[in-house]
Amino acid sequence: MGMKVLVIGSGAREHVIAATLLKGASVDEVTVAPGNPGMELDGIRTTRIDPSNHAALIEFMQSSNYDWALVGPEVPLMHGIVDDFREVGLKAFGPTRAAAQVEGSKDFAKQLMARHAIPTAAYRAFTDYEAAAAYVMEHGAPIVVKADGLAAGKGVTVALDTQTALKALEDIFVEHRFGNADLKVVLEDFLEGQEFSLMSFVNGTEFWPMPISQDHKRAYDGDKGPNTGGMGAYSPVPQISDETVKTAIDTIVRPTVKALAEEGTPFTGILYAGLIATEEGPKVIEFNARFGDPETEAVLPLLTSDLGESINAILNNEQPTFTWRTDATALGVVLASDGYPGNPKKGTPVPAIDTDADSHIYYAGVKKPKHPENLNPADLAASTSLVSSSGRVLVYETLAPTLKAAQTKIYDTLDALDTTGFFYRHDIGAKALEAVVPDSKQ
Ligand code: AMP
Ligand code: GLY
Repeated sequence: MGMKVLVIGSGAREHVIAATLLKGASVDEVTVAPGNPGMELDGIRTTRIDPSNHAALIEFMQSSNYDWALVGPEVPLMHGIVDDFREVGLKAFGPTRAAAQVEGSKDFAKQLMARHAIPTAAYRAFTDYEAAAAYVMEHGAPIVVKADGLAAGKGVTVALDTQTALKALEDIFVEHRFGNADLKVVLEDFLEGQEFSLMSFVNGTEFWPMPISQDHKRAYDGDKGPNTGGMGAYSPVPQISDETVKTAIDTIVRPTVKALAEEGTPFTGILYAGLIATEEGPKVIEFNARFGDPETEAVLPLLTSDLGESINAILNNEQPTFTWRTDATALGVVLASDGYPGNPKKGTPVPAIDTDADSHIYYAGVKKPKHPENLNPADLAASTSLVSSSGRVLVYETLAPTLKAAQTKIYDTLDALDTTGFFYRHDIGAKALEAVVPDSKQ
C-alpha cells in the first residue's frame, strides 16, 4: 500500500508538488489543504482546511490515516506547524519555527551569515526612521531597503537613488505599510550580477541540491515595474557555470546547514538560497525555508526519481535518492491578473490552455464563480469554468529539449490566446539566451 500525503498550501507550487508526489509509485493519495479548484481538474483532492488551523489539520491527518505532511508556504512554518505536528507524533516535512527564522527574520539570517563568514551583502539593521535615514545619507545609493519579517517579497525596495530609499523607510516607519509591531529594517549593499535560486532538500546535517533555477521578480518585461512574488522561472540556468554552483554549495549551502545544526536550530525541509553571482562569487540575498514559487514549477518537472519516497526517507533519517533530467529545460510563465501586484482585478474567467505530455498548467489564484449566470456565456465557454481570485492565477510550464524551444512553445500558445484581464511577461528565459554561455553548456 502506498503512502497518503497531505500538502499544505493553495498555489501553483503546491499543485506541482502534489502532481509530482502522485507521479511516484510510493504515494497513492495526496490531499491539498486548502488547495484550489484548478488542482481538482487534475484529479488532486483538496480539503477546505485553513493552513492556520493546525488542530484541524492534525485531526484530518489522524482520522484519514495520513503518513506525513509537506508544508508549502512560509506562514504556517513561522507559526510552528512542524512543532505542533511533532508534539502529537505526526511527521511534517519542513523546518521548525526556530529554524524557519532563516526566512522569517532577515536579521536572524544576516547574523547567522556574519558569524559563519557566509558571503552576503553588507548590512545594518535599524529600528527607527532617523537612524536609518542617516545611514542612507551616509552610505549613498544604490542601496536595498528590506522590512524585517514577512511581506512576501513586497517589503524589499532596490533603491537606485537616496530619495527612493528614504521613501521606502517612510513607508515602513511612518506609514506603517507593513504593520507597526516590532519595526525593524535591514539596509544592505546592492549586489550586481545575475540572480539564481539554489534549493536543497535538507536533513539536519546533510543536504541534496536541486538543479538551479532563475525567477523573474519584477512585474514587467525587461525587469521593469514593481517586485512581485515571481513572474516566471526556468531550469537549468546555463549562463551560471557549474563552478559557480559548486562554489555556492561549498561557501553558502554547506556552512549554512552546518551552522543551523550547530547552533541548536537544525533545519529539515527545503532550504532555498536566493543568490547573486557577483564578480567576487555567489552571495546570498535571501534564504527561504520552503520551495520557491514559481521556481518549483520549473524544477520538479526535471525530477526523475520518486519524490514521496525520498522525502519519506529523509523523515525517517534514511538516505534519499534524487535523480534529475539533464537533457531538457523546464520553463514556466505566470499568468497574472491585471493590476497585480498592487490591486489585482478578480473574477475574470480563466482561459483554457491546451497542454500535451510535456506541458502543464499549475493553478494558483482561481475559484469557481459564485454566479456563473452573470458571466458572458461565450467567455465562460472558452474558459476553464474558473475565475481569477488573486494576483498570480496560473503557471503554464513546459519541458523541451532546449530553453529556446521551451520559450517558443510557451509564447506561441500564450500569444494566440485571448488573455484580456490578465498579463504575463514575454521575456522569461531571455537572460540565458542573451548571455554568453560556455560551449559545454549550450
Ligand atoms: P528578497 O525578497 O530579499 O528576495 O528581495 C527581492 C528582490 O530584490 C530580489 O529577488 C532581488 O532581485 C532584489 N534584491 C534583494 N536584495 C538585493 C541586493 N542586496 N542587491 C541587489 N538586488 C537585491
Ligand atoms: N520566487 C521567490 C520565492 O519563492 O520567494
